[in-house]
Order: sequence, then structure tokens, then C-alpha cells
Amino acid sequence: MAPEAVEIRPAQDGDRHALGLLFAAVAEERDGIAAEPPIDVERRAASWDLDHTLVALSDGEVVGVIYVIDSNFGFGEIAMMVAARWRGRGVGTALVAAAIDSARARGLHKLALSVFPHNEAAMVLYRKFGFVEEDRRTKHLRRDSGELWDLIDMGLLL
Ligand SMILES: CC(C)(COP(=O)(O)OP(=O)(O)OC[C@H]1O[C@@H](n2cnc3c(N)ncnc32)[C@H](O)[C@@H]1OP(=O)(O)O)[C@@H](O)C(=O)NCCC(=O)NCCS
Repeated sequence: MAPEAVEIRPAQDGDRHALGLLFAAVAEERDGIAAEPPIDVERRAASWDLDHTLVALSDGEVVGVIYVIDSNFGFGEIAMMVAARWRGRGVGTALVAAAIDSARARGLHKLALSVFPHNEAAMVLYRKFGFVEEDRRTKHLRRDSGELWDLIDMGLLL
């Protein structure tokens, strides 16, 4: 699938349910994002901050999302996910590129994010855009399993 088959646009109210479902599906994987099931889909959908949220669409279906939470200090924090069956096809790349453009356009000086050290796909993606490792937080997150996972902080100066 060519990346151009996917449209990237700002999220709209009508995307909320799809975003809640995507978030819940990725949380079920217990691998890439901090959240773990159970996720209350409707609650997550309703509380989603659509500001600076970009969605990737294929044939009108939400297949990925990236969101940037702007701080009051010039940097924004990224979180993102792509539906499992759409991974490895350039959707993540298109989302990160669009988020960087948007962050630059509104004058942020830096994007930051946290990633689990085992998340090779995500780290490859972020490094491709110039994000660098800035810190490692040891045994930072306690998982439902009781395991304690490290987090790597990455940053990109815009
Ligand atoms: C991380 C994630 C967003 C990447 O999205 P994606 O659509 O698969 O990304 P792309 O297809 O654009 O691939 C980006 C790069 O990573 C590489 N890549 C993809 N999967 C990989 C893997 N498992 N191992 C190593 N590299 C990988 C691709 O080859 C590509 O590099 P290239 O352009 O040089 O070929 C997606 O895997 C995901 O949603 N994971 C679950 C949620 C998550 O981890 N979110 C991020 C939390 S920090």
C-alpha cells in the first residue's frame, strides 16, 4: 500500500468513537503504549483532546493517530498509534511528518516523547526524523503483570 493512499487530517468530533476503539485495541496488546485494558471506549472517546490530534484515514476509516500535547513552555509531547494491520506501511511515517510540520507552524521549538526500550518499530521511526535519546527512566512504569518497565525519553529540536 502506497503511503499516499492514506489521508492525514486534523481529527474531528466524528472521529471520537474510532479513536476510542483504536486506543482500546492497542492497549489490548500490552506492548507499545502505557495504557492497559480494560479501556472504557466511550469515556476515552469523549475525553479525547482533539486539539493537535491528527488522524490517518484509509477509505474514510481511522487507521492511525498522533497527538501532541502542547506545554506552556514551547515543547509538545507526542503520543501515537497505528492499527495493527496497517503497521509497516508508512502510516506512522506520514503521521510523524505531519505532526512535525504542524508543530513548527505553530511555533513549538521541540517535540518530546517517551518510548519503551523494546519498541524497536517506534524507535526506528522516531530516529528517522532526528529524534535523539535524552534519558532513560529506570523501572518507571509498573505493569498490570507487576513487571517494572524502563522508559526512554526522546526529543527533537524543531
Ligand atoms: C510505532 C508505530 C506507530 C509505527 O507505525 P508504522 O505505521 O508501523 O510505521 P512505518 O510503517 O511508517 O515505519 C516506520 C519505520 O520503522 C520501521 N519499522 C517498522 N516496524 C519495524 C520493526 N518491527 N522493527 C524495526 N523497524 C521497523 C519501518 O521499516 C520504517 O522505516 P523505513 O521508513 O526506514 O523503512 C506502530 O508500530 C504502532 O502503532 N505501534 C503500537 C503503538 C506504539 O508503540 N506507539 C508508539 C508509542 S511510543
